[in-house]
Amino acid sequence: MTVTHPAPPTRSPVLTLIEDPAKMHEVRRRLRGEIGLVPTMGYLHDGHLSLVRRARAENDVVITTIFVNPTQFGPGEDLDAYPRDLPRDLALLEQEGVDIVFAPAAEALYPPGYQTWVELSELPRHLEGARRPGHFRGVTTIVTKLFNLTRPTRAYFGQKDAQQALILRRLVEDLNYDLELVICPTMREASGLAMSSRNTYLTPEERRRAAVLYRALCAARDAYLAGERDARRLRRLMQDTLDAEPLAQTEYVSIADLATLEEVPAQIRGPVLASLAVRIGKARLIDNLWLGTSPEEWGKTRPGSQPVG
Ligand code: PAF
Repeated sequence: MTVTHPAPPTRSPVLTLIEDPAKMHEVRRRLRGEIGLVPTMGYLHDGHLSLVRRARAENDVVITTIFVNPTQFGPGEDLDAYPRDLPRDLALLEQEGVDIVFAPAAEALYPPGYQTWVELSELPRHLEGARRPGHFRGVTTIVTKLFNLTRPTRAYFGQKDAQQALILRRLVEDLNYDLELVICPTMREASGLAMSSRNTYLTPEERRRAAVLYRALCAARDAYLAGERDARRLRRLMQDTLDAEPLAQTEYVSIADLATLEEVPAQIRGPVLASLAVRIGKARLIDNLWLGTSPEEWGKTRPGSQPVG
């Protein structure tokens, strides 16, 4: 009688949960092959899972981090209310074939006496950084720590947080990290609303109305594609679209130079970031589209990717 055995799996389907930074270092020292890192704050949705799937397809080992980073929340922001569900996140990540989840407690990464910060000088001055003082200092500090703990070959971030992605790409270059930062497309609901853990703050009615953010961005994009190059007119189109939705309170609409994130005063002469921040009910929502380039294209051609001096 011949007994056939199923082929052994190429990787263990069992997910390893690590909470201790020292243990993360120890496990990382033993890993071989290309490592894909997907940093998250948990409460995962399809946007996060699209990053995980890309990381799974492109690497031998996938590490996802789940950490609601206190240092990127300002006073009065939603640190305590931020949605959390670790058991559900672990089940989703196991299904996606993630190998390692690093989910430390806040005190493990910021013990008493902690005093080291990583901060960029220019890019955080604009857009989200101008409205959320200290936010990007918290993001760049925690992501630096996660890079050091996991030493990835590739790290995956969503285009939805465009300023974050551009800042982190700059950080990777400036600090000479030997890794590729991959910016993945924004995942949207059928209405166009960008997926975000903060959408859970919306009532069903507000969620329906929140599609206005994407409509505003599309108004600017369509005008740009039709040849409009006056940044003031594109901002006006976005604002007019938002003004037609009574539940939307605009924080800003922006057409910014993608290299510097400075507002384009008049005529558009290169790739720009069309972005906005809007409050609807209890939620503060952000979204963006890139005009005149894409994250892949921009990674190859942008100014500032050459050495300084
Ligand atoms: O985008 C996020 O979820 C967070 O800012 C990040 C990159 C995980 C850092 O805390």
